[in-house]
Amino acid sequence: MLASLLTIASLYLAPAVVRASPCVAFDINWNLLGFGLNGKDWNAGTQDQWSSGSAADITTSGRPPFDGANTTCYLSQFTNAIYVMNGDKSSPSSVHIYDATAKSWTTQSVTTGSFDPSSFDAILDHDTNVVYALSHGEVFSLDMGLLKAANSSALAWNDVQKAPYDASYQPVMALAQNHIHFLNVPGVPQGQADIFVIHFSYFQPQPQAYPLADGSAFPSSFGQATSFFQAEGVQQEFAFIPADSSATYVVNVETNTTQALAGPATKDAQATYFAGLTSLVQLDSTGTVSWLPYVQNDTNANKAAQWSKVAALASVAPATTAGAGSSASAGAGATGSVGPKASGSGASSSAGPKASANPQNTGAENGAVGVQVQRGLVGAVLLGALAVLV
Ligand SMILES: *[C@@H]1O[C@H](CO)[C@@H](O)[C@H](O)[C@H]1NC(C)=O
Ligand SMILES: *[C@@H]1O[C@H](CO)[C@@H](O)[C@H](O)[C@H]1NC(C)=O
Repeated sequence: MLASLLTIASLYLAPAVVRASPCVAFDINWNLLGFGLNGKDWNAGTQDQWSSGSAADITTSGRPPFDGANTTCYLSQFTNAIYVMNGDKSSPSSVHIYDATAKSWTTQSVTTGSFDPSSFDAILDHDTNVVYALSHGEVFSLDMGLLKAANSSALAWNDVQKAPYDASYQPVMALAQNHIHFLNVPGVPQGQADIFVIHFSYFQPQPQAYPLADGSAFPSSFGQATSFFQAEGVQQEFAFIPADSSATYVVNVETNTTQALAGPATKDAQATYFAGLTSLVQLDSTGTVSWLPYVQNDTNANKAAQWSKVAALASVAPATTAGAGSSASAGAGATGSVGPKASGSGASSSAGPKASANPQNTGAENGAVGVQVQRGLVGAVLLGALAVLV
């Protein structure tokens, strides 16, 4: 009896210390989807729709609570499905599948074996729809078949082989041309990547250089990487954003070259990134989503491109308090069953996706009132300028 009371008490208290972990992804029509932003899921439409208006609320049953740490999302281009890992802290091994065509969620159970879902980096191989992960120096794979809805039987992480890296290497992985590029590998010079050839399960013995036009190199640094998609076919380019956000590097594995583009306006080592066809999207640790336009093969346009906020998401899902230990979005992860239950903050959007052109974000439980006021009052350009000043 006491035990169950304690359990109930801890369940009751738990949400107060959870910081929800949203993620962003594209569907195959390049609609920008924001999951777990202010406790809900959103479709911000295509890039031409981001600078104004409001994203559509696509929150529906069966979704993960987005209360996990280090939540990651992957687009399966053949199936138009988004695979979510660590979307539910009560079930860290599960892969949640969003069928972006049917707009429905299912939960795939996964047997982890020796794979550690709390410590890995991963890519989804475009052509085979197999996830490859590096965790504690070991390469694992998870074959997603052509799933856009969960199988009733469990999938299993397969231990592929040992990587030629110490278990302490914190992986930075990027996919291009069915090759996994490992960045910031100890001992590998700046501007170079180690390559794992997926189809042969083969680590190339020599790193590959990807110099900038001026002869300089992207830094050896921890950071985030994400692959640009093509309208169809394999990916050929990936973005690498060092943890200091000093620049955005785009590596082309066909030409073996790198472009240096503007670093994110919001410098945030905790930010995550997702590239589409013609844009690179940043989700920072406050839940603010920003983007950089990108045009393949137009280095001049790319060099001039600037980051701006996705206003259509900001208007419906205002930023939460930054930093560890905040109680932001306590409503987000409180339950796995998600109805139209308005979470405390940002509930102004509940009137419908098009309703709130100028939401007054009065979510008093969030500490970042200043941020919220700004977001309600000013547009993307001014916000970008403010972000630089702050
Ligand atoms: C999240 O990632 C960090 C950095 O890799 C790691 O230290 C931490 O254990 C992870 N947390 C969980 C709950 O997965
Ligand atoms: C890129 O590098 C690879 C490996 O060194 C080489 O085989 C390929 O020909 C290079 N591509 C170009 C366009 O230089």
